[in-house]
Amino acid sequence: MTQDARRIATPPPSGRPRVVVVAGARPNFMKVAPILHEIERRGTLDAFLVHTGQHYDAAMSDGFFRDLGIRKPDANLGVGSGSHAVQTAEVLMRIEPILLERPTAAVLVVGDVNSTLAATLAAVKLGIPVAHVEAGLRSFDRAMPEELNRLLTDAVSTWLFVSEPSGEKNLRAEGADPKQIHFVGNVMIDTLLSQLERARSLDTLSRLSLAPRGYAVLTLHRPSNVDEPTTLGALFDVLEEIHAQLPVVFPVHPRTAETIRTRLGGRALALRTTAPLGYLEFLRLMADARLVLTDSGGIQEETTVLGVPCLTLRHNTERPVTVEQGTNRIVGNDPHVIRSEVRKILDGDARAGRVPELWDGRAAARIIDVLERDLRGNR
Ligand code: UD1
Repeated sequence: MTQDARRIATPPPSGRPRVVVVAGARPNFMKVAPILHEIERRGTLDAFLVHTGQHYDAAMSDGFFRDLGIRKPDANLGVGSGSHAVQTAEVLMRIEPILLERPTAAVLVVGDVNSTLAATLAAVKLGIPVAHVEAGLRSFDRAMPEELNRLLTDAVSTWLFVSEPSGEKNLRAEGADPKQIHFVGNVMIDTLLSQLERARSLDTLSRLSLAPRGYAVLTLHRPSNVDEPTTLGALFDVLEEIHAQLPVVFPVHPRTAETIRTRLGGRALALRTTAPLGYLEFLRLMADARLVLTDSGGIQEETTVLGVPCLTLRHNTERPVTVEQGTNRIVGNDPHVIRSEVRKILDGDARAGRVPELWDGRAAARIIDVLERDLRGNR
């Protein structure tokens, strides 16, 4: 029997089109949460949740499921860490039987991590159409692993769900059929808006002895910043200087912790370091920060919605709307530039910005509208 024949051999028990939703790494969890909630609320599609296990620490994974009310995954592939090839290959091999075991109408992937690309490849090779949420974002920097994941995922996806105008422009320039492109807004912001009140009720600030607007928040995990000890060491020098004026709270990503331990001689940082925080605690911290310094993608978007100044410690962004309309500035990793941009914010020169179009808490509903129409109508 061919693989495709096996795939259509048994109808889904519910009679509803089955959508396999894939999440693997920390930034995926807040994106799948509103989509799963919307599918469950409507009851018209049958969601099957796969956790690839790319992130597996309690602080990087389980806590997010709890905070965001995501149900237990239907399957956990347990791929863990490894080189890009190993991680991608493990997801490819381990997800294929799940896609074959019951008829799958679509696979839904989010973001740009290795799990996103691997699940996409496994699906399209079986002839299963893929829905990519957060399609079209481009940093135009192919040295970033995420940029390759974005380009390749979009090239073979059927539904391209776009979060900001640049996404649509980039996809059209790459030759995507305009009928595939759906500008739906930002699912990560669905989650932020639904959780902000809960986050604000936490006592995180008093526990850390911080006053509203009296501290900065820092995150660092991009290979270009943290894998090279000279770059990371120089960043820490300037960040420690800033900390002497304004406390800098720094939840340390495991990748960064590894470089500090193995290549910076276990350097004791003069910063307010913590273990990685849960979603709600981190949102609580961001919401009242004087400024945020980060190399994350999602945090550029979250600070824009919160109206908190963000300095992005990278040379580019795949989320230009946060610079054009929001509170984000791209500052790279040159200590002089970082120092002077922080000074400007402390002197009151910060942009208020505005919330981009359709970042309104309804992105997941728009996505499911499209999938319901296409999957229940035609397949
Ligand atoms: C991945 C994503 C990145 C995303 C980031 C968020 C890719 C290519 N990169 O990068 O886009 O912004 O997640 O965190 O998919 N580790 C642990 N525990 C965990 C997970 C990782 O200790 O639960 C350590 C391991 O030593 C691992 C390292 O962190 O080797 C890096 O993890 P990995 O998933 O390879 O990439 P990230 O740097 O987290």
